Amino acid sequence: MVSRVIPVDPFDLVIFGGTGDLARRKILPGLYRRFLAGQMPEEARVIGAARSEMSDDDYRAMIGQSIREFVARGKQDEEAIGKFLARVHYVAIDATGEAGWKALKAATRKDVIQVVYFSVAPSLFGPLAERLHQKGIACATCRIVVEKPFGRDLATARALNGTLAEHFHENQIYRIDHYLGKETVQNLMAVRFGNMLFEPLWNAQYVDHIQITAAETVGVGGRGSYYDKSGAMRDMVQNHLMQLLCLIAMEPPSQFEPDAVRDEKLKVIRALDPVAPEEIVRGQYQPNGAAPGYRQDVQNAESLTESFIAMRLHVSNWRWKGTPFYLRTGKKLKARASEIAVVFKDPPHSIFGQQEGRRGNVLAIKLQPNEGMTLRVTIKEPGPGGMRLVEVPLDMSFAEALGPNGTDIPDAYERLVMDVVRGNQTLFMRDDEVEAAWAWADPVIAGWEERGDRPCAYEPGSAGPEEAQILMHRDGRRWREIRE
Ligand SMILES: NC(=O)c1ccc[n+]([C@@H]2O[C@H](COP(=O)([O-])OP(=O)(O)OC[C@H]3O[C@@H](n4cnc5c(N)ncnc54)[C@H](OP(=O)(O)O)[C@@H]3O)[C@@H](O)[C@H]2O)c1
Repeated sequence: MVSRVIPVDPFDLVIFGGTGDLARRKILPGLYRRFLAGQMPEEARVIGAARSEMSDDDYRAMIGQSIREFVARGKQDEEAIGKFLARVHYVAIDATGEAGWKALKAATRKDVIQVVYFSVAPSLFGPLAERLHQKGIACATCRIVVEKPFGRDLATARALNGTLAEHFHENQIYRIDHYLGKETVQNLMAVRFGNMLFEPLWNAQYVDHIQITAAETVGVGGRGSYYDKSGAMRDMVQNHLMQLLCLIAMEPPSQFEPDAVRDEKLKVIRALDPVAPEEIVRGQYQPNGAAPGYRQDVQNAESLTESFIAMRLHVSNWRWKGTPFYLRTGKKLKARASEIAVVFKDPPHSIFGQQEGRRGNVLAIKLQPNEGMTLRVTIKEPGPGGMRLVEVPLDMSFAEALGPNGTDIPDAYERLVMDVVRGNQTLFMRDDEVEAAWAWADPVIAGWEERGDRPCAYEPGSAGPEEAQILMHRDGRRWREIRE
């Protein structure tokens, strides 16, 4: 199978925060890969912008270094890197100041697509939007890309949306959630809506429950002070896990078109029931020998912030009434693994006796580290000796199924940046979606804050607190193994 690469139209991409971690680790290496694939046209330009003074050549040296560090070796072609870097420029500019804007204006062209990526702290979104407008850099067709966190509650998200709306129309704003840029996530829609096989079964009558897991092995690292004010609910559930839940639970949109898809996602968020305290388990990883625990990592001995959360949700609509959605995410868990598992009900009657033939099918959609899907089915164990049943996975690992091109699956960021250039907002969150997700999350967070709930302890390298296992066992179910 050969993947088609269709070049995008010429563009100027200005990256505010062009010297930051996200730009160096993800955005620019991703752009280089698109350049290498032939998708970035000759006339495209990338302009890094940040406060530090440096020349184009200094910046090119920095980005060349990032490409060598963050792009797979097999993709490091020195000639191509040189050609890509020739399209990269730098302007020193303070998003809150007055200097540098003339130079930026001179560096951008009016006759190509203009994109400004806000890869800076959210406190700079307002001043940046305002200046882009005042200084005549943002035009009516200019697109802006906004990074998470998009607010820390409904009030701050509304304020941020309001500020951006003063200067940009909603169809110019691309709120990025990199989970939506993953190949598998889009494939989830293809599998659901491009086949007759699954959709008739995709409801409470046939689906026992759904599990969504995003497990990390790392702790909070250098982000301790930010993370302690956020926690797993704000950092992961309100955005990434909620978006995955929406794609699993939504009704088929009438078209694969931005607002049609986002309307359906919004209906799912609005159909979520409030979450009762006994449906939530929060945890904090403990010290392990010399390795610090969560409270040491964030330097807050009294912290009640969760580095792990598991919860049971209910979507109150005709399709899903009675099918629980279990979500869990956490740091310092046993493996780095993100997946969605649709667990189907057991057959209503076993013709093979009590024990056999009663295993439910599971469609597992793996998001990382290796993207792919497996469908667990029951078959007869090969060989003589009677009818013994075994479960086997029908495996569709993309790297294998798509041959040599399978390993060329674009990273979420590179795909999403190209979508911005194409002007396709399908995989970006709309203002009302973000606000609805906060409107759901706020009372849940307020509940545990008012009660002063203390997170449960869990061992680093485990599957999270024991209480999270009990959450499932109470319902006669079990979490899937967390493994890569
Ligand atoms: N890193 C990630 O993996 C990741 C993932 C998801 C979301 N995000 C979000 O993406 C944004 C950027 O994250 P990051 O990790 O790249 O942050 P970072 O490493 O701290 O970089 C911040 C960037 O902003 C620039 N900057 C700071 N103040 C500025 C100002 N007043 N005017 C112009 N530029 C300014 C900095 O350069 P100077 O100091 O030279 O100005 C630097 O280039 C944040 O909103 C973050 O929450 C990051």
